Amino acid sequence: MERIKVNTAPIEGQKPGTSGLRKKTHVFMGPHYLENFIQAIWNGIGGAEGKTFVLGGDGRYFNDRAAQVILRMAAASGARKVIIGKNALLSTPAASNLIRKRQTDGGIIMSASHNPGGPDEDFGVKFNTPNGGPAPEEVTNRIFEATKEITSYDIIETQDIDLSALGTTVLAGMEIEVVDSVADYAELMESLFDFGKIRSLFAGGFTMRFDAMHAVTGPYATEILENSLGAAKGTVINGTPSPDFGGGHPDPNPIWAKPLVDLMMSADAPDFAAASDGDGDRNMILGRGVYVTPSDSLAVLAANAHLAPGYARGLAGVARSMPTSGAVDLVAKAKGIGCYETPTGWKFFGNLLDAGKATLCGEESAGTGSDHVREKDGLWAVLLWLNMLAESGKSVKEMLADHWRTYGRNYYSRHDYEAVDSGIANAMMDVLRGQLADLPSQAFPAGTVAMADEFAYDDPVDGSRSEGQGIRVVFENGSRIVYRLSGTGTVGATLRVYLEAYEDDPAKLDADAETALADIIATADQIAGIRERTGREAPDVKT
Ligand code: G1P
Ligand code: ZN
Repeated sequence: MERIKVNTAPIEGQKPGTSGLRKKTHVFMGPHYLENFIQAIWNGIGGAEGKTFVLGGDGRYFNDRAAQVILRMAAASGARKVIIGKNALLSTPAASNLIRKRQTDGGIIMSASHNPGGPDEDFGVKFNTPNGGPAPEEVTNRIFEATKEITSYDIIETQDIDLSALGTTVLAGMEIEVVDSVADYAELMESLFDFGKIRSLFAGGFTMRFDAMHAVTGPYATEILENSLGAAKGTVINGTPSPDFGGGHPDPNPIWAKPLVDLMMSADAPDFAAASDGDGDRNMILGRGVYVTPSDSLAVLAANAHLAPGYARGLAGVARSMPTSGAVDLVAKAKGIGCYETPTGWKFFGNLLDAGKATLCGEESAGTGSDHVREKDGLWAVLLWLNMLAESGKSVKEMLADHWRTYGRNYYSRHDYEAVDSGIANAMMDVLRGQLADLPSQAFPAGTVAMADEFAYDDPVDGSRSEGQGIRVVFENGSRIVYRLSGTGTVGATLRVYLEAYEDDPAKLDADAETALADIIATADQIAGIRERTGREAPDVKT
């Protein structure tokens, strides 16, 4: 066993995006690529010496190899201890929980979330701070600066560490504690929800299907839903994590989880269904004959969270990312609690959660969570839904219909144009920027424009400002279009167009979303010239 210093040079493009550094797996596997970035993390946070970290990932291809490298580098840099999930597996929310519970100096999560896995697909690395949340921009900027100055990294030369057995080993003076990936997380969930009530629900014949999409949530869902809550065996499908997610795209939305949606729209539908993504932080909620949009789910959870013991005291406030629909705002208004609008990406919720300003947060991209961890949490959302259903005795469809009758409905859809030429996408955003001053008072099929701007966020806790967070066009009738370029893609640019219209006429609450949004969809194209500029006739994905 030898500690060595390896000479290296900066590698271009190691700038963390919306959620850590994401690249093609073969890029991460290239010479020094992972090592440079890990050393840059140590350098960016003031060194690893004497520190304790959590380490885990979603089990995608290269997860196991990357874990060995990170352990050897942590030891070489003098870290005191690494707490790692068995076989280097931890869902993102479980990692966040461990970072907090064990009061560590942060953690490294190996994941590219909902992106496919495999040698030709995606890999990612993300640093989370001691509060358990994704590093804020101030930290990721320092890490990025470090990637540009790196000249060497430290690593121990040794055999692989056995990560399949629980317990503690020592590597060059650094403790490695292999922990059960599920146990602490399951305990946290039991502290928030009325497991007895949910058990009675299942015992009374309530049926459910949970699609783990061959990703990391499988073992968590099986343990909690089937073993602990008594859901029938077989409730969890695709529950064994695989390095390439069974060749699929582990993103819980109506496109990639289509078989589940089809089941729920069929005569054989169970009462409730859900799915989660590669690293377990996203969720999709379905009832018999109904799909719940993530924006609606956030609003329904905010309106009913008090039905679960962990939230019985009520919510301090709520927060949503800017492109997320305003449905939750209406709940906050009715409850008289704070409501915050942040840029896209969970890292912006961290300060609000830490400061006790928000209890529940959510994004339109299938992410909901609360102050129990500092990441979004797929299974948590599923359990909160189950707790609400158990307590209220209503079906998902009834919950949603009641919600719309009370608050009105924010029709919502997101259209994604993937792998667009970056030059074309950036030029389109520039043209939109150039139009902002002229748009107000112009009339379109969607209505007359009331306001157009590029969203910027001033963090109310630390005063930091984040600019360039998406272009908003708001109409006098409350409809809204948002244009944004993705910060997680690995090929070209992904243009996201977020479309929203509010309806409170009780007779018009049951329309198909794409139909209800037809004028707004047409207006979005008219303003930005999407079809003409990209040559695309239709979006690649609608969620
Ligand atoms: C996407 C989602 C965003 C989410 C992020 C990480 O980022 O839109 O809400 O926080 O993935 O899961 P984007 O690709 O849009 O930058
Ligand atoms: Zn994810």
